[in-house]
Order: sequence, then C-alpha cells, then structure tokens
Amino acid sequence: MKTFNFTVRTSKETRAVLGRGMANIPALFPGLFRSADKICLVTGTDAPNSLRARALELFPESRQRHFYFRLPPSETAKTLEQAGKLCAFLFDKGFSRNSLIIAAGGGAVTDLAGFAASIYMRGINWVSVPTTFLAQIDAGLGGKTAVNLAGAKNIAGTFYQPALAVCDTAFLDSLPHAELRSGTGELVKYAMIGPVELARTVKKNLSKVLTGDKAALTSSVSACAAYKLKLVSKDERDETGPRETLNFGHTAGHAFEAMSGSRLPHGEAVARGIRFALIASMKTGLLKREAFTDLNALVSALRLPPARAVRRDFRRFLGLVSRDKKARGANNRFLLIQSRGRLKAAENLDPALLKEAFEGALK
Ligand code: GLY
Repeated sequence: MKTFNFTVRTSKETRAVLGRGMANIPALFPGLFRSADKICLVTGTDAPNSLRARALELFPESRQRHFYFRLPPSETAKTLEQAGKLCAFLFDKGFSRNSLIIAAGGGAVTDLAGFAASIYMRGINWVSVPTTFLAQIDAGLGGKTAVNLAGAKNIAGTFYQPALAVCDTAFLDSLPHAELRSGTGELVKYAMIGPVELARTVKKNLSKVLTGDKAALTSSVSACAAYKLKLVSKDERDETGPRETLNFGHTAGHAFEAMSGSRLPHGEAVARGIRFALIASMKTGLLKREAFTDLNALVSALRLPPARAVRRDFRRFLGLVSRDKKARGANNRFLLIQSRGRLKAAENLDPALLKEAFEGALK
C-alpha cells in the first residue's frame, strides 16, 4: 500500500491511500475519524451488497455512529434535488460540522456526495472511496464535485477536497467488463498527457486491465492516481494549466455523453473525445500523421462498441461545446495534442474541421 500526503495550494491538507486489500482505515488516520461525531456512508442503489460489506471492512470502527444513504443509480444521482435530499437526511439525523461523509461508489457517487459535503453547514469533512476503475484513476480524486443541469454534465459544482481518498483495487475484483473498458478510456488519456514512464506503464497494462488482471489494475491505479494528485497539488482549481491536461478528450466526450442521454458510459465517451481531439489536432496541422497513427492505436486497442446511443446531430454538438464551461466564452475551445505530453488549447476552430473530427470520432 502506498500512502500519499499532499497539500493543495488553496485549501486544506488532503491525503490519499492507494493499493490493494486495505483494512481498518480509521487506524491509519485516527485524528480524522476520532473527531467525527457521526458518519454517513453514501453509496448507489446499484451497488452490489459486496461493496457495502467491503466498505464496512475498510471502516469498521465507525459502525456505532454509522448512517447509510443510498443514491439513485449512476448519473441519475447527480441532481440538485438529490444533493438537497442528502443534506436534509444529514440534518434530520443530527449531523454537525464535526460529522463525516464517506462516499463509496463510482464517479457519480463521489461527485454528488462530495458536492453535498461542500454545502452542508457550509462544508463538512468527507472521504472519497472510489470503487470503479475509472473513479480510482480520475473522478474520485482531486475534489471536483458536481451535479448535472439542463441535460449538460457538471454544470453546478464546487472544488472541495476530500480529507482522504482511499483507492483500494480489491473493489475492482467484481467489476463488470463494461466498467473496466469504460475506465480504460481515462487510462489511455494518461498515456497521452503524462511523462514517458507513465505512458509505458499504461501501454504495458492496457490489455491486461481489460481482462481484469489484478496486478495490472493495481499498478495502473497507483501510477495514474499518483500522477493526477501531483497535477491537482500544483493547480487545484484548474486555473494555471497543469490540471487542465486532465480534461483532454473531455469537451467532445461530455457532449457525446449528453447526446446519448447519459447512456454512453463516461470512459467510452472520453475515449471517443480523445479520438476527436486526435483528428482535430491532425487536421489543424499540429499533430503529424505518424504520431496520430501511434496515439490513435491506443484508442483502437480499446475495441469500443459502436456508440449507437449518441444521436448524430452536429448542430447540437456545436451548441453543447459552445456552452461547455471549459470554453471560457469562446465559440469552442479544445485541448489539442502535438506529441505525447505536449498539449495546446485551441479556440474557435472551424466548424467544417470539427465536423470531420465529429464523424471520425463516432465511426
Ligand atoms: N477530471 C478532470 C479533473 O479532475 O480535473
């Protein structure tokens, strides 16, 4: 097990533990748990019983003051109404500013519970326990919390670091193949944005991860999560550049997700968003054909199923990307790539070029 302590620039110290088969987390962080008067475990209704049992093994000491709140499945959890329901539940059970939320689940659970933690009594401590591969390498780390609004992803939210993030790859043992494949969309992203050693780790593990290989999953989570935490500690609020690279593929990806009514899994949407960015990078002349072929081979290795759920409506796509919060007032803004690790933001790209990338990405 690896333990990371890192301090983020603008807010409180936040810690992370990454590894496989942990137990009794409160014994490792006694201060955080001893000071909590009440603890609420938040999971999704779609979580298997084994998830709750494993979460209770991780946090055994908290049983006496333990409350349990279940959110609707996946993205349907991410509404202002659900955040309000969770806050009302906490209030009804007498939760105070000394209480603690433990969010155990995929990215939708950690996004929503983290958001509720950030607004309940103007902020209480929370622990992020991502239980899917995707959430362990991205969504469950870094303190971006959010709900969806008006059919668009993550429109209202906060930066609110968990006091602790726990990534235990034992949760991944029973993960369905579709979930693993979705996570590899984010995994491939790290091979494109990160340093050469990280790209090597990803390439070495990619096919094994798709078969659920435990060592490959643990090695990937340790490498990618540690890299993400490094970027977050440099640029917590996504303002100065390092953290923005984590958004590679996400502008088009979020639009694809929205255009599927959230039926396209996030990681698959990101993988298609990465392909979109690769095509757009090549069409603008930034990315040479050879480099395109190399990088695109990583996306092809995922053998994505057809994105039937995404409606081929280019006008809607343009509308969504223009209103993306990452557009910062431009008509559109995308992160393009010149070579591995060298990304460049480009604004107001020509719609004809975007249409080619749109069609190529959804092929
Ligand atoms: N998922 C991108 C970020 O956390 O910044």
